[in-house]
Amino acid sequence: MAEKLAPATLALHAGETERRPGAPVTASPQLAASFFTHPDAIGFSANDLAENAPHFYTRWSNPTADSLERTLAALEGGEAAVSFASGMAAVSALFLDRLAAGDHLLLSDVCYAGVAELAQDILPRHGIAATLVDTADPAAVEAALRPNTRLVHVETPANPILKLTDIAAVAAIAHAGGAELSVDSTIATPFGTRPLALGADYVVHSLTKYISGHGDALGGAVIGGAARMAALRRQGLIHLGGALAPFNAWLSLRGLETLAPRMALHEANARRLEAFLAEHPKVRSVLWPGSPRHPQHALARRQMRNFSGLLAFSARSGSGALAARLAERLRVISYAVSLGKTKSLLFYIPTDDLLRASFRLRGAQEAAYRDWAGEGVFRFSAGLEDADDLIADLAQALG
Ligand SMILES: Cc1ncc(COP(=O)(O)O)c(C=O)c1O
Repeated sequence: MAEKLAPATLALHAGETERRPGAPVTASPQLAASFFTHPDAIGFSANDLAENAPHFYTRWSNPTADSLERTLAALEGGEAAVSFASGMAAVSALFLDRLAAGDHLLLSDVCYAGVAELAQDILPRHGIAATLVDTADPAAVEAALRPNTRLVHVETPANPILKLTDIAAVAAIAHAGGAELSVDSTIATPFGTRPLALGADYVVHSLTKYISGHGDALGGAVIGGAARMAALRRQGLIHLGGALAPFNAWLSLRGLETLAPRMALHEANARRLEAFLAEHPKVRSVLWPGSPRHPQHALARRQMRNFSGLLAFSARSGSGALAARLAERLRVISYAVSLGKTKSLLFYIPTDDLLRASFRLRGAQEAAYRDWAGEGVFRFSAGLEDADDLIADLAQALG
């Protein structure tokens, strides 16, 4: 597919396989096959696998996953992509492929809780040290680098408080220190930020969120250079085994067909909701990168072309009781986890729980998180409903 096409066109066409009379005009021919006939006698080990070998077994590669991977690589401006069964499968495969006993990982001190727990609980059991650092502060990243730091992993915007990391600045610091940079761009999507163009080595997505977009499929992906992605396929996919089901690959491809217009509407609705929440008497603060009220709005304007649909707000008091009230009273918005779905979602994340169970921050880092989040954040994923209906629903439920 021609490189010159714009992202909105690539999202629809980059994964196409056939353009012959009679070919289906669908996302991709969905192929629920686990294995394929093979023309050659080939080795049975993943280590014998030639690049661009014909499809053989779906844990190696699959035509539908292949269309999805080509589309994601085109959208991110990367040479290749590898898809996984979930965002966590993608992150864990990348960590285990790039890190070995004796290595050190630097990680955003605010990120998806599962990633923070993986880094702090599982990696050390395999001899890999992990440090959580405030990646919003490039000087802190530089100070935390060690001679054995092999990977810096940042999430921007970060779940759940939408804190940003300057990708270009942190990429330069990581590379100067001999480390690579991976960026979880799940919340930004390829229509918001293209981390590879800013110097990152890898982009990670939970396809479960905006990319599949309808809340009906788990999935994950890593995008990067061809040689590194071939190694990741061998070590992280074939051996660790978290392959994406063909049907979920197809659902992600179908989601990609509407990602550009959905992101425009998610952003427009988030803008309206942010303005409403900022004026509400029960709201202490609201965080959305697209607002001049966001403490890193200048960075957001430099680094994001779409500010996405996720916002977080905290209450002046009584957050726990307010969460219960919202769960009971919301009629249009669903009180549910996750983000990036067509329908609006709201969920409360108490600060004490998150700091104790997942981030385990102390001292200045803990104080900084509490400053952003207060007692807890209401994470609001603005869907595609009419903005006036969303505001009316929140207004009646907040009281
Ligand atoms: C930013 C981010 N990265 C990764 C993940 C993990 O993705 P999955 O749920 O698809 O495993 C999540 C899930 O919430 C997330 O929000």
